[in-house]
Amino acid sequence: MSNLFAFTTFYGLFAACVFYPPKEFVSMGFTISELASLWLGQELDSFIQYHIKRSIVTLMVHSLLPFGYVVGLAMRGHIDAVQILFGSENPIWLTLCICTLIGPMYTLYKILTWSKNNWSKHPIAKNLSIYCAGDENRTWTDIASNINREFMSISKLQIATNTTTKVVVTDNWIMQVSPYKLDIAYQANSSLVGYKVDIYQSTTTFNIGTVYAKYRVCTRQPGGRNFTIRLNFNDMENFTGKILMPITTEPSLAFPKTMKELWMDEIKQVIADNPVYISHEELEKCAVCINATSNIKLIKRCPDIPIRDDMPLCKICNCPPRSCIDCLVKWFIAKSVTGEVDQDESFFQRKSSCPQCRSTFCLLDISYVKYEPVEPSASKS
Ligand SMILES: *[C@@H]1O[C@H](CO)[C@@H](O)[C@H](O)[C@H]1NC(C)=O
Ligand SMILES: *[C@@H]1O[C@H](CO)[C@@H](O)[C@H](O)[C@H]1NC(C)=O
Ligand SMILES: *[C@@H]1O[C@H](CO)[C@@H](O)[C@H](O)[C@H]1NC(C)=O
Ligand SMILES: *[C@@H]1O[C@H](CO)[C@@H](O)[C@H](O)[C@H]1NC(C)=O
Ligand SMILES: *[C@@H]1O[C@H](CO)[C@@H](O)[C@H](O)[C@H]1NC(C)=O
Ligand SMILES: *[C@@H]1O[C@H](CO)[C@@H](O)[C@H](O)[C@H]1NC(C)=O
Ligand SMILES: *[C@@H]1O[C@H](CO)[C@@H](O)[C@H](O)[C@H]1NC(C)=O
Ligand SMILES: [Zn+2]
Ligand SMILES: [Zn+2]
Ligand SMILES: [Zn+2]
Repeated sequence: MSNLFAFTTFYGLFAACVFYPPKEFVSMGFTISELASLWLGQELDSFIQYHIKRSIVTLMVHSLLPFGYVVGLAMRGHIDAVQILFGSENPIWLTLCICTLIGPMYTLYKILTWSKNNWSKHPIAKNLSIYCAGDENRTWTDIASNINREFMSISKLQIATNTTTKVVVTDNWIMQVSPYKLDIAYQANSSLVGYKVDIYQSTTTFNIGTVYAKYRVCTRQPGGRNFTIRLNFNDMENFTGKILMPITTEPSLAFPKTMKELWMDEIKQVIADNPVYISHEELEKCAVCINATSNIKLIKRCPDIPIRDDMPLCKICNCPPRSCIDCLVKWFIAKSVTGEVDQDESFFQRKSSCPQCRSTFCLLDISYVKYEPVEPSASKS
């Protein structure tokens, strides 16, 4: 029984890797498209035809997974195939085995339907054919060869958003390739709406590799379909530099334009969780921007344990509040005392020094200041 459990676990993991190949598998070439590359041909030669075939192979392989499990069970002797087929074994087993074949059979039927008339019934071909409307002499293959030609150009931009999905921007088209689908929009007929920023952050490692921006590609083409792309923030500059469509952002959303704005928002959120410092002195204007009121004080809170060997310890700063949150956060980002700061390094591992007395401080040591005038009666007693 434990043998069966081990095999089931192993097969489950295998199936998960087929659906969502980890980076290591991809770099080793262990993906469906690599393994079927003989039949698929080169993506560069005919992009659309390649992806029609690739989506078919993917669908077929995925649909075969349950059957593969049953075959695996039989081969390892957990179930007896002969007994199930002809013997007196509980008929529920036979039913289950047949059920695992329904998926691949249906897929095969679909593929045969699609392949008629040189694949013109395939969903990708159908979705391209909406761009032939108004010209009865054009078919989806004309659109496809136009896209293929643009894909061959070196000016195209490809961004892998994860191991199974990528965004392709050519001179006139924007596409998203995912396991079964190919979303497409004609740039001149579309616009881009930024509507969400996702930050995957654990409490100890905020690093910018895990910030994503979601955009909706809205097309005005009759019959066209809007789709959502999710981009890593690191790819943002290349992406916005390449596309020609207008970009708007949801008015209700503060959509950061740059990585720095994003960092500032993140850091401010961390600081907001630190205890507030009560000041009985009236707060002066910020010494840096001479406009906002100073509302930040440095109070050493972190433990005296260096996270890394070359990391200086934080010191006590006795300076009165002299800068506003924005100026201090900008200072914190720009002036790091922890040496060359790697872009991926967590902000919790950074340290800076007080703009006035140069005492080292870290994120935990930054407090908002609240002014509370001393009540006359309280001060007398
Ligand atoms: C890859 O990204 C797409 C959307 O961009 C998402 O639907 C899919 O679940 C992601 N896959 C993995 C393995 O994270
Ligand atoms: C389509 O082709 C036919 C014959 O080749 C031609 O007479 C007709 O004008 C063409 N239609 C369009 C819209 O180009
Ligand atoms: C084709 O477009 C339809 C909606 O118009 C969509 O549901 C479908 O997923 C698309 N197919 C592919 C393969 O992109
Ligand atoms: C795509 O988005 C645009 C703009 O938001 C909207 O007007 C249009 O109805 C959407 N199209 C579809 C098919 O949902
Ligand atoms: C652009 O959109 C319009 C509708 O707004 C449509 O009639 C036209 O065919 C589209 N043009 C192209 C080149 O796709
Ligand atoms: C942006 O594009 C350039 C040139 O294509 C490339 O060298 C660079 O690595 C890209 N940047 C990122 C973050 O992908
Ligand atoms: C000064 O601060 C106010 C808000 O306190 C802000 O609206 C204004 O833009 C600031 N001016 C400058 C020049 O930064
Ligand atoms: Zn300021
Ligand atoms: Zn100081
Ligand atoms: Zn500290």
